[in-house]
Amino acid sequence: MKHAHILVTGGSSGIGYALVNRLLKAGHQVTATTRKPDDQSPRPGLTWVGLDLESNASVDAFLNNPCWDQPVDIVVNNAGFGLIAPIESASDEAVRAQFEANYFATMRITRHAMAHFRQHGAGTIMANTSIGGRMAFPYFGYYNATKHALEASYESLWYECLQSNIRVKIIEPGFTQTQFATHGMRTSGADHPAHVDGLSWLEHSMKTGTTASDPDVVAAVMEGALFDNRHTLRYAAGKHSGALLFLRKALPDSWFQAIIGKAVLRGQKTT
Ligand SMILES: NC(=O)c1ccc[n+]([C@@H]2O[C@H](COP(=O)([O-])OP(=O)(O)OC[C@H]3O[C@@H](n4cnc5c(N)ncnc54)[C@H](OP(=O)(O)O)[C@@H]3O)[C@@H](O)[C@H]2O)c1
Repeated sequence: MKHAHILVTGGSSGIGYALVNRLLKAGHQVTATTRKPDDQSPRPGLTWVGLDLESNASVDAFLNNPCWDQPVDIVVNNAGFGLIAPIESASDEAVRAQFEANYFATMRITRHAMAHFRQHGAGTIMANTSIGGRMAFPYFGYYNATKHALEASYESLWYECLQSNIRVKIIEPGFTQTQFATHGMRTSGADHPAHVDGLSWLEHSMKTGTTASDPDVVAAVMEGALFDNRHTLRYAAGKHSGALLFLRKALPDSWFQAIIGKAVLRGQKTT
């Protein structure tokens, strides 16, 4: 596809920003979303549209935006945030907000894009999940659950589109150096006495960690996947992602859990 019209949710920072840069460089017409369209700089080929995944009214407005009046060839569901919370102490409100943004609103956009693609006879839809859509990490349980839910829905959608010109893609990044750990994260129930040490160790290791990939590495895999006309569903992206996904499949649960537990719970005291 030479010059496509591509819609990217969450194009203002991190992985989405890197993808938008690549798509503009390749000459595509890009519509990108953000909660703060007035703060974004105009660029040739790029249109900013407001979208807050936690507001039904904002999602409604986005689905009625004139950007859908012309054919959209590709929709990338990238926007999302992470909730860091012990399972036992997260507030109901925080868990619902996490699912509202990462799952329910994303699936509303997915259904809208599907109707658009069926009308136009073709299209490509992608969800940015995570390796955490195929495994779970302590304190990321609710975030990981939203990504597992997306993985299941996109896998079903993949079967449902096999007989069509619609391609369904999932991108599974590992830890990526973006604004995710700063503006993209929320916490809930973090003062639970059983988890204060574990959470402070997690915060320290996220700040000092050196294992994260550059977002452009992930964006490069996304760009390749978007224009891969094969019916491939899943693409691992970034350092350690492929290896962890392979180990998750190859190892018995107990072995895999022992490896993850040892790696991520080193700083936690037992109570
Ligand atoms: N970083 C990682 O390690 C990692 C790993 C695997 C998967 N991912 C996934 O990659 C995607 C992008 O994350 P990132 O790492 O690039 O983080 P980021 O730098 O925080 O970017 C997140 C983007 O999503 C938008 N966004 C966040 N919450 C939103 C909401 N409630 N409503 C609408 N838009 C919202 C932000 O836009 P505005 O703030 O401008 O509205 C921003 O453009 C997410 O789905 C994340 O789960 C990240």
